[in-house]
Amino acid sequence: MKRTEIKDLLERADFGSKVNVKGWVRTKRGSKNVSFIALNDGSTIKNVQLVVEMSPAMEPLLEKIHTGAALSVTGDLTESMGSGQKVEVHATDIEILGVANPNDYPLQPKKHSLEFLREKAHLRYRTNTFSAIARIRHAMIFAIHKFFNDRGFYNIHSPIITGSDAEGAGEMFQVTTLDLNNIPKNEEGKADFQTDFFGKATNLTVSGQLEAELAALALSKVYTFGPTFRAENSNTTRHLAEFWMIEPEVAFCDINDDMDLAEDMLKYVIRYALDNCKDDLEFLSKRLLDEEKNKKADERSMELIEKLNFVLDNDFERITYTEAIQILRNSKPNKKKRFQFVIDGWGADLQSEHERYLVEKHFKKPVILTDYPKEIKAFYMKQNDDGKTVRAMDVLFPQIGEIIGGSQREEEYDKLATRMKEMDIPEESMWWYLETRKFGTVPHAGFGLGFERLILFLTGMGNIRDVIPFPRTPLNCEF
Ligand code: 4AD
Ligand code: MG
Repeated sequence: MKRTEIKDLLERADFGSKVNVKGWVRTKRGSKNVSFIALNDGSTIKNVQLVVEMSPAMEPLLEKIHTGAALSVTGDLTESMGSGQKVEVHATDIEILGVANPNDYPLQPKKHSLEFLREKAHLRYRTNTFSAIARIRHAMIFAIHKFFNDRGFYNIHSPIITGSDAEGAGEMFQVTTLDLNNIPKNEEGKADFQTDFFGKATNLTVSGQLEAELAALALSKVYTFGPTFRAENSNTTRHLAEFWMIEPEVAFCDINDDMDLAEDMLKYVIRYALDNCKDDLEFLSKRLLDEEKNKKADERSMELIEKLNFVLDNDFERITYTEAIQILRNSKPNKKKRFQFVIDGWGADLQSEHERYLVEKHFKKPVILTDYPKEIKAFYMKQNDDGKTVRAMDVLFPQIGEIIGGSQREEEYDKLATRMKEMDIPEESMWWYLETRKFGTVPHAGFGLGFERLILFLTGMGNIRDVIPFPRTPLNCEF
């Protein structure tokens, strides 16, 4: 018999029909005469209730069914008398596809800590929290492609192995086939990459931006959506060594158009989640309330769905870095030295505590900061006439801090070449990038959205390791 997915089954009302469902047991309870099994197949956060009447044929089967077992169940679709569900299946035939021994199976029908589940990442998809996150991740991938496709952007595959450092921050994972126990040396006594696979030193990309720029200077509107890798040793709840980034790049576009695009895109995908991921968001909202129930009222986060609507309903506040520094210097936590990093002057890099102060306490809405000091930003950003600042724009969100980093790009050859020299960016690995400024250069701009930071925001989870299936962080690459 053809299988019906639980998501579809729960919408049906043709009571009396024979149906087949397949899935994994979440719970089994009952009495001598009747058992109730909650079955989930991942198509929805909801389970279907199976009602199994005890019989000599069913008894030995039921003994083998525990949380985690995989079943194929055929039965009659029945209107449910119980609360919480409209339909249930009265099982007439059960096949155990895979048992799960309760003495070994780590996921019991009780609340497990997120830390525990991180150690069971191979099984955590089977929990409500992680299956909800997986479905929301999927919906957001789809919504992002739809947003750009509907606006005439082309998706570009930027390379994963590169010979350049797009951010110039030196936080790269090297890619090599050299024998690390016997590294060939050149005349200077350094590793001889000429004998390496690509005949040069290579690494995993930190960003697809530079290649996206090449494409934008021919196709006008492009975006990349790929994995990026950063060997920064920051053990925070917002950093991964491997994360996914969405990077649009647009020709004939300045920093203001860039900010409009970023705000439109974020609002579009948040609305998409509200419209298409209702059950999962409602579950995650309850999870968050439960997690924070012991916190003081002023330490609790805003209710999840309210928070998403709040972002939709407000224009993002756009201010310059210089204005932000003024606000921060005069702020209470700065004066009382409650910030870990006290702001004492212009030029300081902002930490997430400062970003969150601006968003959560001062403006009480998302903020876009522009025109940062050139010293704390990448070499490719368009230089302002003041000689001090660049046309950067960072979008700051409640709970997250920086969710997007972007800029208008320096399109003038001389200015870019000079800046690259000042910052010791080797021209021989970047000549092709510079060359675009010689041939038909135009003003252009783009940004990078950290996909996992978006999912953190949407799900209300507290740790970025819980919104990517298999997180890579320092000293952690188990699964
Ligand atoms: O600000 P970033 O470093 O900007 C770039 O990479 C530019 N090339 C983007 C562009 O203009 N095309 O990174 C962009 C975003 C950040 O705002 C943050 O959301 C995310 O990527 N991000 C990280 N997410 C998780 N773990 C990390 N280690 C991250 N580093 C950056
Ligand atoms: Mg940044």
